[in-house]
Amino acid sequence: MRTAAIILSAGEGTRMKSKKPKVAHEVLGLPLVQWVVRAARGAGADPIVSIVGHGADVVRPLVEGTIAVEQPQRRGTGDAVMCAREVLEGFDGSVLVLSGDCPLIRAQTLAELVQAREREDAACAVLSMHMPDPFGYGRIVRTSTGEFERIVEQKDASEAQAAICECNSGFYCFDSRLLFEALHKVGCDNAAGEYYLTDVLGILREAGLRVVAVQAGEPDECMGVNSRVQLAQASRAMQMRVNTALMAEGVTMMAPEQVWVGPDVRVARDVELLPGVMLMGATEIGEDTVVGPNSRLTDTVVGSGCTIDETVAVGARIDDGACCGPRAYLRTGAHLMEGAKAGTHVEIKKSTIGPGSKVPHLSYIGDTTMGAGVNIGAGSITCNYDGAHKHATTIGDDTFVGSDTMLVAPVSIGSNVVVGAGSVITKDVPDGALAVARARERVIDGWAAKHAKK
Ligand code: UD1
Ligand code: CA
Repeated sequence: MRTAAIILSAGEGTRMKSKKPKVAHEVLGLPLVQWVVRAARGAGADPIVSIVGHGADVVRPLVEGTIAVEQPQRRGTGDAVMCAREVLEGFDGSVLVLSGDCPLIRAQTLAELVQAREREDAACAVLSMHMPDPFGYGRIVRTSTGEFERIVEQKDASEAQAAICECNSGFYCFDSRLLFEALHKVGCDNAAGEYYLTDVLGILREAGLRVVAVQAGEPDECMGVNSRVQLAQASRAMQMRVNTALMAEGVTMMAPEQVWVGPDVRVARDVELLPGVMLMGATEIGEDTVVGPNSRLTDTVVGSGCTIDETVAVGARIDDGACCGPRAYLRTGAHLMEGAKAGTHVEIKKSTIGPGSKVPHLSYIGDTTMGAGVNIGAGSITCNYDGAHKHATTIGDDTFVGSDTMLVAPVSIGSNVVVGAGSVITKDVPDGALAVARARERVIDGWAAKHAKK
């Protein structure tokens, strides 16, 4: 049987107190709604329909690859699902209905919900969870024989119903035809004046159809994000889920609560992640590399056996055995080749540092191609910007650049060159030459005595 999914993401999320729509807020660098889209895909749902509304322009790009449908007015979850009717016209199978603000849901759990509905031959299977503090959730009301009866929202609950701890997670699997038939019958005569999707379940049951409530193994999975505090709680739960999986695969973390790894990051065995590490985007870390403490790597590919200490790297490449930091900043297009070094207070942008070459202290290297075995003395920089344009610098193999040198680009330094410390180099230097460009030193004997205060 085919499975479709509808993801509800039209709400504003007033309690977030944000100019950003709620589902655009991020957990481990991924917007809330994208976690849900991924889970739906992972469960084999196709097509996926996203209901957008508040901040639709911001949310649409986040749900790329799904069919985005706008809900013109936020009239409740039932009304939101109704917006998907047209695009799912003719679809016959299981429909998952998911909340875009519940990032912790797993693909496996959704697949099991679909299986449960099909196995039980039910019109609907709803994922329920036991909450020690159920306030705010819809409650699962059961008959005296324990069968599902209906869902009652917090606002409409009697005192006895409010005491029920089994709650509606907001995740459902419906028979597509029966869902839209029953939705027509939902009214808005309730405390919120909204069209509740949850009423569909009671309607189906009254029509003599089967509705089952399947209990979630891990209530964490159904955690919804309505406020910043809940966003922090969801982040923490996801952080622990990711880190536990990494540790199981052979990654060392002495303090996993101080390590944040995004969902698309790949970390090899025997990597050590020290406190204060954030690995985001499409970052990859090779075997035996040590990252941290206090390092943020985004879209950066690191080889094996590297040492990355107090480093910020964005869009960089660090090959096997290279090292950087403490306090290095590798910007887009920085490439440290095998065994290269970017040391303390060093910034590198759009430059290749050849194999074994070293930029150990206090340097800025931009738009530069550097060969192998080069040494850049402390405080040396490439002057790549003339105020209007960026210019390139090339440095050949085994060249030694003395401390505090300015290489004024465009400029080309050959291989086996020695540049005297304190030089301002504006002309190309051929292979094997010595280049010195600084004022000559004068030494005046006895000067101090002559000028001594009488
Ligand atoms: C809903 C359920 C409640 C359940 C809880 C679980 C209903 C009536 N209640 O309550 O039983 O325990 O989820 O988290 O469904 N949305 C729209 N358009 C609308 C209204 C909502 O797209 O017109 C979206 C929201 O953006 C959100 C989702 O639907 O992603 C759920 O809406 P929300 O208002 O958060 O429902 P809850 O009050 O949490
Ligand atoms: Ca909610």
